Amino acid sequence: MEFKEVVKNRYSCKKYSDKKVEREKLLAILEAGRLAPTAKNLQEQHIYVVESEENLAKIDKATPCRYGASTVLVVAFDKNNVFTYPGGKRDSGIEDASIVATHLMLAAADEGVNSCWLNFFDPEVLAKDLGLPENEEILMLLDLGYAAEGAGPLDNHDSRKELSETVSYI
Ligand SMILES: Cc1cc2nc3c(=O)[nH]c(=O)nc-3n(C[C@H](O)[C@H](O)[C@H](O)COP(=O)(O)O)c2cc1C
Repeated sequence: MEFKEVVKNRYSCKKYSDKKVEREKLLAILEAGRLAPTAKNLQEQHIYVVESEENLAKIDKATPCRYGASTVLVVAFDKNNVFTYPGGKRDSGIEDASIVATHLMLAAADEGVNSCWLNFFDPEVLAKDLGLPENEEILMLLDLGYAAEGAGPLDNHDSRKELSETVSYI
């Protein structure tokens, strides 16, 4: 798909059918995450693919926002392998993991797979429940699947500010 089409077609899907994401499509999505840029090329991301009933139940315990998706990607990063920027107040962890997550989300759209970015959960509680190592922090969850019949973008999907409100030429 043309990049412009991918960006235009993507929306946050909030109702999924039972259809599973094909392994080949999942691998293409994960590969797009692998190619994401990270500060100093540290590649501190760790993606967990959740598809087992046992771990999907743990996602459901953490958030009401799985919406029936058959696959959930947990995007985490190694807190001990981040680049600290000059000034010492910020580091690359959340930023790098966000870029990886964005690649995953857009690659899903490119594969015709619906998705939703989730942050409505307590990352520390979920990390413990899933048994992630202590050095890893969860950035976000990405629901993956196929929209249920009749599901589509929410009303606010097309409501975006004008460029003049968010861009200044200085
Ligand atoms: C950082 C971030 C966090 C989000 N968290 C949630 C969430 O926890 N639950 C949910 O249903 N949607 C979540 N969303 C989806 C947004 O609500 C959605 O992207 C926004 O309303 C615009 O809709 P659209 O993606 O269809 O254009 C999140 C999106 C982003 C970018």
